Amino acid sequence: MSGLQTRGLKVGYGDRAVIDGLDLDVLEGELTVIVGPNACGKSTLLRALARLLPTREGSVLLDGRSIRDLPTKEVARRIGLLPQSSIAPDGITVADLVGRGRYPHQGVLSTWSVEDEAAVTQAMAATDVVDLADRHVDELSGGQRQRVWIALVLAQETPVVLLDEPTTYLDIGHQLEVLELVSRLRAEGRTVVAVLHEINHAARFATHLIAMRDGSIVAQGRPRDIVDAELIEVVFGVSARVIPDPDTGCPVVLPRRALPRTALPS
Ligand SMILES: Nc1ncnc2c1ncn2[C@@H]1O[C@H](COP(=O)(O)OP(=O)(O)OP(=O)(O)O)[C@@H](O)[C@H]1O
Ligand SMILES: [Mg+2]
Repeated sequence: MSGLQTRGLKVGYGDRAVIDGLDLDVLEGELTVIVGPNACGKSTLLRALARLLPTREGSVLLDGRSIRDLPTKEVARRIGLLPQSSIAPDGITVADLVGRGRYPHQGVLSTWSVEDEAAVTQAMAATDVVDLADRHVDELSGGQRQRVWIALVLAQETPVVLLDEPTTYLDIGHQLEVLELVSRLRAEGRTVVAVLHEINHAARFATHLIAMRDGSIVAQGRPRDIVDAELIEVVFGVSARVIPDPDTGCPVVLPRRALPRTALPS
């Protein structure tokens, strides 16, 4: 068994389970996009996959082994996570923050290597933050900062990359640059899972789309096989038209109006 999976996963906060009994196979070499309404458990799922949340029941498996049993550094070398929001250490520069992505690759005594330098340079170029290298992270705009955090994840060079809303704060040009970059990562052989709110970006860039509601997977598959008006209504409570993109054939969602919230059919 290889790749990242959950079996009977139960995670939550305090007494409350957000996800209960989830079986998920993160398909290797795919760009999986997770969509779903606010508070349905997307970030919770990503945190659990990256071992930042303890599992209550069930397990997260990496190559068939429970990630609970793996050394922290090994998990960090194999799974990179862009959290939905992060706070940079006070006064740190962009180059130093991105450089922290190399920690999991360094031994106790090892110094900064040529490989570390190359990974950081490449990550900063790919996210268009080279010109910001010497700036303080806390003095950047929201979109600049978001690209720096993405650079930090890229610098980790992990085979699995988990991105929680990577396009938040970005203008449309930088949104597309990030999504194209994510597609390239996948084309180069990495396994990527991204949470996105923009359903049309999800439908266009995902090779595998997962729609979540209330901590459960409502539908998954190729966007063109699963995105239709019924799915948008069930998942988001929105009446929409779905038409094929004239250029790509991907489904395009044209939202019409919000409907009264209904319970998820059991
Ligand atoms: N640190 C926390 N402590 C307690 N409850 C939390 C915590 N983080 C999230 N929750 C709760 O868990 C549920 C799922 O939250 P989660 O962040 O996974 O949602 P999400 O699908 O990522 O939503 P969004 O689209 O708004 O980011 C929500 O009800 C939220 O209030
Ligand atoms: Mg979230």
